[in-house]
Amino acid sequence: MENPISLPFLSVIVLLLHLSNSLPTTSIYDTFLHCLQSHTNQPDHVSNIVYAQTNASYTSVLRAFARNARFTSPSIQKPSLVVTPQSENHVQASVVCAKSIDVQLKIRSGGHDFEGVSYVSQGPFVILDMFNFQNVTVDVQNEIAVIQAGASLGQVYYRIWEKSKVHGFPAGACPTVGVGGHLSGGGYGNMIRKYGLSVDHVVDAKIVDVKGRVLDKATMGEDLFWAIRGGGGASFGVILSYTVKLVAVPDRVTVFQVDKTLEQNATDLVVQWQQVAPHTDDRLFLRLVLQPVRSNVVKGQKTIRASVEALFLGEANELVTLLGKEFPLLGLKKELCHEMRWIDSVVWWANYNDGSSVNALLDRTHYSVHSNKRKSDYVQTPISRKELTWIWKKMIELGKVELVFNPYGGKMNEVPSDSTPFPHRAGNLYKIQYTVSWQELGAAAEERFLSEIKVLHNYMTPFVSKNPRGAYFNYRDLDIGINNHGKNNYQDGKVYSMKYFKNNFERLVKAKTEIDPENFFWNEQSIPSYPGHKETAPINSFS
Ligand SMILES: Cc1cc2nc3c(=O)[nH]c(=O)nc-3n(C[C@H](O)[C@H](O)[C@H](O)COP(=O)(O)OP(=O)(O)OC[C@H]3O[C@@H](n4cnc5c(N)ncnc54)[C@H](O)[C@@H]3O)c2cc1C
Ligand SMILES: *[C@@H]1O[C@H](CO)[C@@H](O)[C@H](O)[C@H]1NC(C)=O
Ligand SMILES: *[C@@H]1O[C@H](CO)[C@@H](O)[C@H](O)[C@H]1NC(C)=O
Ligand SMILES: *[C@@H]1O[C@H](CO)[C@@H](O)[C@H](O)[C@H]1NC(C)=O
Repeated sequence: MENPISLPFLSVIVLLLHLSNSLPTTSIYDTFLHCLQSHTNQPDHVSNIVYAQTNASYTSVLRAFARNARFTSPSIQKPSLVVTPQSENHVQASVVCAKSIDVQLKIRSGGHDFEGVSYVSQGPFVILDMFNFQNVTVDVQNEIAVIQAGASLGQVYYRIWEKSKVHGFPAGACPTVGVGGHLSGGGYGNMIRKYGLSVDHVVDAKIVDVKGRVLDKATMGEDLFWAIRGGGGASFGVILSYTVKLVAVPDRVTVFQVDKTLEQNATDLVVQWQQVAPHTDDRLFLRLVLQPVRSNVVKGQKTIRASVEALFLGEANELVTLLGKEFPLLGLKKELCHEMRWIDSVVWWANYNDGSSVNALLDRTHYSVHSNKRKSDYVQTPISRKELTWIWKKMIELGKVELVFNPYGGKMNEVPSDSTPFPHRAGNLYKIQYTVSWQELGAAAEERFLSEIKVLHNYMTPFVSKNPRGAYFNYRDLDIGINNHGKNNYQDGKVYSMKYFKNNFERLVKAKTEIDPENFFWNEQSIPSYPGHKETAPINSFS
């Protein structure tokens, strides 16, 4: 775009805003559309990318990537428009036009945000829905892939596998998660101990800034390129794509799941798991899932089931020998191991245990929407046997909340805590994910389950990281703090940011202030800019 903001147009809008504080929806639609038409090289085309509330397809487009039923009920505030860009130029024009009418822009890629931050807001807003940006271009020779923000992780894994059987990418286990949120916010999966986070493999990126410019690594400046590898995208601009380095995967990998209840000495298993999982061979990821379930032994009683779910980047014989030595209480037998291709392990880990083939990874609708809430914690010293017993008692009493322990160590110990905004590296044994999901409708159920997860999180205080109590940005949790006093409050921003980013917070604020000093790109938990800061654009060039 030659001239991203047309000044005469801007003054018309300013005038309009003066005349009426909140434009009616149809008027926002007309105004936005006219603006798009004057800021795009395809003026005829843009009428196909804007959905007004009156449009027959509005609800289905809005819901297509709304992955949490807590945020789809009629009482939840809906966007004035959903904009579905099909080209870079559409994104540029959308940002310029949203800015010119001064409406909040929420950016959505896969819609997996646990608090619906990509598609819900308290005030008037517009959704920029990136789902048309699904291209994944794999260059095996150079071992890189260019991944557009709206692609799902399943598409990423599939497209890599299509081109090479010995390459993969370290990212999340759920195939429908979107790249735009996942990669900008960190991204971990079952190869974390071997390869670290997704952001550790990002080598370039393309972003549209508040002025409608397309910037890449060479033009966006070091701070911004650092910030969008873990600090989230939505505080800084619209991510169009990430370029990532692929990693090596072996021909055959091994998976298994072993379950033990308290009656089968699950507590001893968990004690030993803490000694093994964060320290064992980097090729081995041993997730531990802890759930309150009905006891088979004592009728009418509940117990805890501990499930160890594994990925080993190697063959079953080696794994059985390794765990026989290091983790005897698991009692792993060869018969419990499944050796398979890496891509089939992706399907196995996705819990697509309905006979789904590799093709299911391309299906972005393979998701059942229910209500859910997540929280996170980091554990730095092992939890003792006695303390575990207390935790089981509490979990059984609460009834529904589960805990998932994801081991760190390996590569996570080697990456400095300031090399990306993601700070939780060496010194962390494992991360806890608190999870509660429910089908029941209504406010009473919601209140009950949200309270359960809070109670357990409180109860865990003595056992987890402190000052600050860490949390994982991609496990979005609005309980840990929000922008309360207006949209750009540094002190509010510091509260949740210190938990997500620790000492990387100031550099994030610096990057934010450089690229978006007026804080157009804001949300409930965005990075604030320094107040009263004048723009000092360190941007090297325009695109
Ligand atoms: C079922 C499920 C499983 C998960 N499993 C894992 C896992 O294994 N590992 C893990 O690390 N995380 C996991 N997550 C968390 C997931 O990584 C985050 O929710 C992630 O932010 C989702 O990205 P998205 O694009 O799907 O979400 P969205 O809801 O679209 O976006 C999330 C945030 O990123 C912003 N954003 C999205 N796209 C862009 C863009 N193009 N430019 C700028 N900002 C953007 C949004 O505005 C929002 O603030 C899981 C989540 C779910 C629901
Ligand atoms: C609904 O919006 C879409 C996208 O802009 C457009 O293509 C379609 O014509 C609209 N439908 C109606 C009935 O206006
Ligand atoms: C994806 O790639 C196809 C084929 O090269 C291209 O036509 C399309 O415009 C691309 N989509 C986006 C959103 O860049
Ligand atoms: C549990 O541990 C006890 C004590 O070590 C042992 O005697 C018992 O056999 C174990 N039970 C199971 C099911 O492994």
